[in-house]
Formats: sequence, C-alpha cells, structure tokens
Amino acid sequence: MLTQGFIARAEDGGSAILGRGGSDTSAANFGALLGARRVEIWTDVPGLFSANPRAVPDARLLARLDFEEAQEIATTGAKVLHPRCIAPCREAGVPLWIRDTERPDLAGTVIEALADPVPGVKAISSRRGIVLVSMESIGMWQQVGFLADVFAAFKHHGLSVDLIGSAETNVTVSLDPGENLVSTDVLEALCADLAQVCRVKVIAPCAAVTLVGRGIRSRLHKLNSVLAEFGRERVHLISQSSNDLNLTFVVDEAVAEGLLPRLHGLLIEAGAMPVDEARVFGPSWKALGGQARIRPEPWWRARRPQLLAAAAATPRYVYHLPTVRERARSLARLPGLAQRLYAIKANAHPAILRALESEGYGFECVSLAEVRHVLATLPAIDPLRILFTPSFAPRAEYAAALELGVNLTVDSLYPLAQWPTLFTGRRIWLRVDPGFGEGHHEKVRTGGKEAKFGLAIEAVAEAAALARGAGARVVGLHAHIGSGIGDAAHWHAVFGRLAALADGIGTVEALDLGGGFGIPYEPEAEPFDLDAFAQRLVEMQAACPQFALWIEPGRYLVAEAGVLLLSVTQVVDKLGVTRVGADAGMNALLRPALYGAWHGIRNLSRIDAPDELACEVVGPICESGDVLGRRRRLPADTAEGDVLLVADAGAYGAVMASRYNLRDLPAEEILDD
Ligand code: LLP
Repeated sequence: MLTQGFIARAEDGGSAILGRGGSDTSAANFGALLGARRVEIWTDVPGLFSANPRAVPDARLLARLDFEEAQEIATTGAKVLHPRCIAPCREAGVPLWIRDTERPDLAGTVIEALADPVPGVKAISSRRGIVLVSMESIGMWQQVGFLADVFAAFKHHGLSVDLIGSAETNVTVSLDPGENLVSTDVLEALCADLAQVCRVKVIAPCAAVTLVGRGIRSRLHKLNSVLAEFGRERVHLISQSSNDLNLTFVVDEAVAEGLLPRLHGLLIEAGAMPVDEARVFGPSWKALGGQARIRPEPWWRARRPQLLAAAAATPRYVYHLPTVRERARSLARLPGLAQRLYAIKANAHPAILRALESEGYGFECVSLAEVRHVLATLPAIDPLRILFTPSFAPRAEYAAALELGVNLTVDSLYPLAQWPTLFTGRRIWLRVDPGFGEGHHEKVRTGGKEAKFGLAIEAVAEAAALARGAGARVVGLHAHIGSGIGDAAHWHAVFGRLAALADGIGTVEALDLGGGFGIPYEPEAEPFDLDAFAQRLVEMQAACPQFALWIEPGRYLVAEAGVLLLSVTQVVDKLGVTRVGADAGMNALLRPALYGAWHGIRNLSRIDAPDELACEVVGPICESGDVLGRRRRLPADTAEGDVLLVADAGAYGAVMASRYNLRDLPAEEILDD
C-alpha cells in the first residue's frame, strides 16, 4: 500500500495539516493501527544522537533506545522525530526504526520495548529560548490555594508550564517556546496578574540542558564532575523528572552551547555514568564522516631540514610568517568586521607585528610598554589603530596613553571617579564584564564575579554618567571574557549584552567583541569553526548595523605558526616511568605547568620512526610541575642530543618565558618562506 502522510481529518470532518513531523506522525499511526512488524522512518540523518552533532561532533549514534527514553530525547530537544510520533508505536508495541536515506547501509536507531532496559545517561539535549518566571511570596508558606491562584493566571493567558521548582517562599516555572506563544505582551499581562499575589521576576533568555537516561536518581553521586561544570555557570532551576528519566538544568542561554561539549565529554565520552556501551551507542557523528573540520598538515613537517639546522642552539622558538599571514587572511575574509586588532600579549616579536600590520591589523595592548613597543616597531602607524586595555594599571599609564592618542578602555569606576580630569575632552571605551567567562582553563576566564576585569553590567550606566561628568565621550564598548574558546556562538552572546548597553548610552559607535578564538592543540581537536562565526557576524550586523564591530584575537593568529625546539638531555627510567629530559621546560613554555595545557611533542631527529616509547617529557627546572607532556609516546631509540619539537607554541610561549633558575631565555627566530 502506498499512501501520503501529513494530512489528517479534523474533528469537524475537514482536512487538517499535521505540521512539523506530519509524515512521521502519519506513519506511526498507520503502523500502530495495522499492527506492523515495524515502522521505518527514512530521513536525512543516521538516527538519534547522544547530543546535537552540530554542537558536539563527538556525539554518538544511539543504536537502541526504549520508547520512554526516545520520548524524553524527542521532547527535550532533538528534532529528528516529532515527540508525538512515539506514543502510537509504544502503545501498539510496534518498533520504530530511524534510517538515513543517503546511507542505507547504516543501522540507524532502533526504538522498541526493551525487556532489559540499560541504565545510565544516554543523551544530553538542550532547548533554547526558555523563559523563567520566578514568583516570590512571603505569605505562601502553608497558605492554601497559592499555587492554584498562580497557575490560574498561567491558564488564563494560555501559557503551559513546563518545569517547576519550589521553595518555601519562591516558585519558579519555565515556559517552553515550543508549547507557548511567549510574546512580550502576553508576559507583561501575566506579570501584571501575578503581581497581585506575589513578586514576579522574568529571567530570559534561558536554555534548558537535559540529561536523559534511565535511573538517573540512583546515580546522582556519580554526577560530581557534572555538577561542578554547572557550578561555574548560573543555574536558575533544577528539575528531576518524576519518571526518573531526566534531569534538567536551566541556565542562561549564552552559556548552554559551550556547556554541551563539556558535559558530553564527561558523561558519555569519559563515562561518568557508564552505560553498557555496545548495546546503546553506535559510531560518533565525526566517525560517520559528519562534517568534522580537518586540521591542515602543519607547516613544520616540510621545513624539517631548516628546523634541524636552527636547532644547533636550543631552546629556540621558530615562527613561520606565511602561517601567520594565512591565519590573518582567514579572519580578514570574515564579513562585517570594521577593525581587526592583534593582541600582542600572545607574541610581540617585531617581525610578526610588521607582518600583521601589512595585513591590515591594528594592535591591542595591555601595558604602556606594549603600546610603546608597537610604536617603536611601526613608527608610522596611526595611533587610532592601537587599543590600550589596561587592568589595574597606574594612573601614569592612562595619562601617557591618552597623550600618545591611542584608544583606551576604562574597565572600572575607579579611574573615572578618582582621575576625572584625565579624561576631559577624550573619546574613551568602556570595558564591560557581561557576567560570564569562558575559556580553556579557569585562569584565563576573564568574565564573571571571580574575574578582576571589566565593569559589571550594573555599573555601566554609572560609568557612562561619570564619563559624561568628566567631559569624556564613550565611543566604544569592549568585552573580552576569556581565551581558547571553541564555540562560535559565544561572541554572539557577548554582542547581545554589549549592543543592549550601547543603546542605553547613546554615543557608542563601535563594539569590540574581544579575542579568545581557540586553536586545536590536542590531536583529536578540530580547528575553530570560522564558517559558524561568519554566520553569527552576519546576524549581528543585521541586528545592529549602527555599530562597527571589532575583534582582537591573539592566539588564533600566531599559536600554530610557532614551534619550540629543544634538545634531549637525558633519558631516565625511574620505578617504571621513563622520562625524556629536555634542555628547557616551564622556563621556556609555561602553559603545560600553569594550565595543564597540551602541546604536541615530536622527535624531529627521528620523525619517521614509530612512536613506541611511553614517557613523560620534562624540563630541567627544580619543580615537579616542570613537565611539558605526560603520557606521551616518542620513538623507542630517542637519545641524548635528539631535537624535540613542541608544536603550537607561537602564542603565550616566549612572552611567558622566565629566567627561573637563572636559565637563559629561549632564542627566537623567524622563517619566511
Ligand atoms: N583581548 C584581551 C583584553 C585579552 O586579555 C586577551 C588575552 C586577548 C584579547 C587575546 O586573547 P586570545 O585571542 O589570545 O585568546 N596565557 C594564556 C592566555 C591568556 C590570555 C590573556 N588575555 C594561555 O596561554 O592560554
């Protein structure tokens, strides 16, 4: 039999269109009514995944699920199956298969009644656009009918409530935009009604992040690391479903996208809540060839002879200018950017500054010495191509920078309140802390309460008033909330906060969204998704064309262009641990010791030998933290005098080197071919 889907009969006998998922709904109902052996839904993806593969390329195909789990996954975010397709098949006991039209060879996802359901977290989903309504009442405790009054108001305005959290004096509920037409008018009317019985606060936009799987309740103790991840972000509401199939956290929308890969890493890749792997998970999206972004061959492979020659004297950094230019051009192709600055704190080598200046970049500096270094290296540069972003710098640095005519950010009330005359007649920027931080390590997250940087959102109006009072004009808003960020959505969230504040100030011409663009250090990491970022830029431009957009990356432009060359000093075996010693360690490259950062390490002298020796690579400094790499593999015959190459060391390498133990600073050298 062949039939169409999507169309149904309405209660009054007329035709009805089922909307999204309409054909699937029809198929599920036909299958159930006919008592079919199974219903197969052929679609454009291989099945349901353990997370949205676009946010988490490591997401695993879910090979087998029971109906209840599939229902939770469909209801809490996944778009593959419409939630209403599942019930007819569940009730009739008809299995539901999801298959990929383009890849008929793949087994897809099988949803059926399982005799022995597998416990554990199987998927992490998220829904954006959630609105929270928090209702505070002192009279609520033990008061009969309070909840009835409150929910009557929601009913009256046609709003269906999704999650509920309650305390003695507060009830907070979430409204899901999928179920509701949550317009500002409706919300205002609702709040007006609720205000009669309690104090109301609307918190939006939020996202609901849901862990789905059987038996979460009995495994809560295993969720330590996951709760720690949430602890860093603001959690407005936690809700554990009464059917023990889901645990939902409601957070600010801006942080949800970054959370997903981290949670997936903890729960599914590292198995904080292990499930019987083979019975549940299929291959990852990446392994199925789902657009993983490919990392190009590093430049240094083809330059081995030059590098071995340069390694006659180590430790030595070598920077490859063509790679710097290539990265510079990749950002120059992005749409809608009025100004690109290079954050010279990442690497202040004069040849790199000159190369970037001729690629059209300006410079972001964090000390007066950095400003002077740019001016000395590029004497003809227009000072307006320099932005000085001091943090707790002395007054004299502000004064000198203003005299030099560079752009300046003020990042607290203190300078404006204490030294107002400095700013009279000046055009200044305000650095804002949007209230959240991001980045590869807590030490490089520069937003939120724990961070020393920026004006809290609540203080921006006062800063603008102080600036006006001092006779200064606020022409730009700036935010930089961390370093080593992989999620392109992040800058959009920053933009949202800055644009709203800029509208309130009225004189703002430009918004600087900061730096922070990540690079792939680990072998399995992917390059930054520039296409996704470009897409976000287009959206930002369209939303607020009145603001010129600036960015100020450091790492992205130079990290992969630099390597650190070291010489092997000794190979030592102690109690079963082999250590390969190098002639510099944390004194030359601090990142592994300070942040536990990963840098690839290769034996350049024996590049083609198989890496079979399990070892640690350590430096000569008198600290046990002086380890450049743990759990590494190098060629078995690695020996004294071999040249080691530490990859991706062009950013925050030489600039953070020290003379600790009175060792010499590493040399620096440029390759330009
Ligand atoms: N703008 C401001 C105001 C900054 O503070 C920074 C970096 C940047 C831009 C550039 O961020 P990037 O694009 O490089 O992520 N030593 C750490 C990184 C510290 C970053 C400090 N500020 C590391 O090695 O990972």
